[in-house]
Amino acid sequence: MTTKATRAVGVDIGGTGIKGALVDLAEGALLSDRIKVATPRGAEPDDVLAAVRQVLDTLGVADAEVPLGVAFPAIVKHGKTLSAANVSDAWIGFEAEAFFEKGLGREIHFANDADVAGIAEVRYGAARGAQGLTILTTLGTGIGTAMLYDGVLIPNSELGHLQRAGKRKDFEAVAAYSAMERESLDWAQWAARLQDYYQHLQFLFSPDLFVVGGGVSKHADQFLPLLQLDTPIIPAVHRNNAGIIGAAALTVGDAG
Ligand code: BGC
Repeated sequence: MTTKATRAVGVDIGGTGIKGALVDLAEGALLSDRIKVATPRGAEPDDVLAAVRQVLDTLGVADAEVPLGVAFPAIVKHGKTLSAANVSDAWIGFEAEAFFEKGLGREIHFANDADVAGIAEVRYGAARGAQGLTILTTLGTGIGTAMLYDGVLIPNSELGHLQRAGKRKDFEAVAAYSAMERESLDWAQWAARLQDYYQHLQFLFSPDLFVVGGGVSKHADQFLPLLQLDTPIIPAVHRNNAGIIGAAALTVGDAG
């Protein structure tokens, strides 16, 4: 059920952190502090549920008065999680939405994390009014993608898992921000990998716009100018908050 609420809570479950805040749905802006807890090691369902509960308790919104949207780093289809790249395999084929609803004792709205970041940037940010195909990528623990055509989300695109020709690892494994940290790459070394990635996306989809989200987008000036693409590429306006804002926005519109 969607509501006419003007405020909602967004919780963004990531491979590394679980973040939440109260969101103004007219402005797409945070109305509270951003609460963050570490994603429990192994990211098993019960532990993730407990961490989400902790975020809601800290925000003081554990009751069901304010609508709640939850974003998750996996394929989400009809409330079920169908993949698990940076979380426990227990989520594969798991009735995750029903699990959270039962565990939290309230209705939630539930979708993929990159898709909701796409929704946030289309409604309130960098992709507002963008015509044609926008591909938003989140560069974090993994690479998430949202494809939006004339502002309409095509959900569960999973383009971080594109295979590289003749290579064993997918693009996420070598070009996510976590790969830069893990391998202590400098900006130029990382940008060279991003160049391959975005060039491949550009060849496959001929997009009109790339939007780059994830926490590292606050350092966009360190790496976006190093990329040479025909497609415009710009940072997400809501950076690492796009997941929270988009999750909250799920409560008032189509999840796609
Ligand atoms: C997952 C996606 C997710 C992305 C960002 C990938 O590993 O497969 O579903 O959107 O990470 O969290």
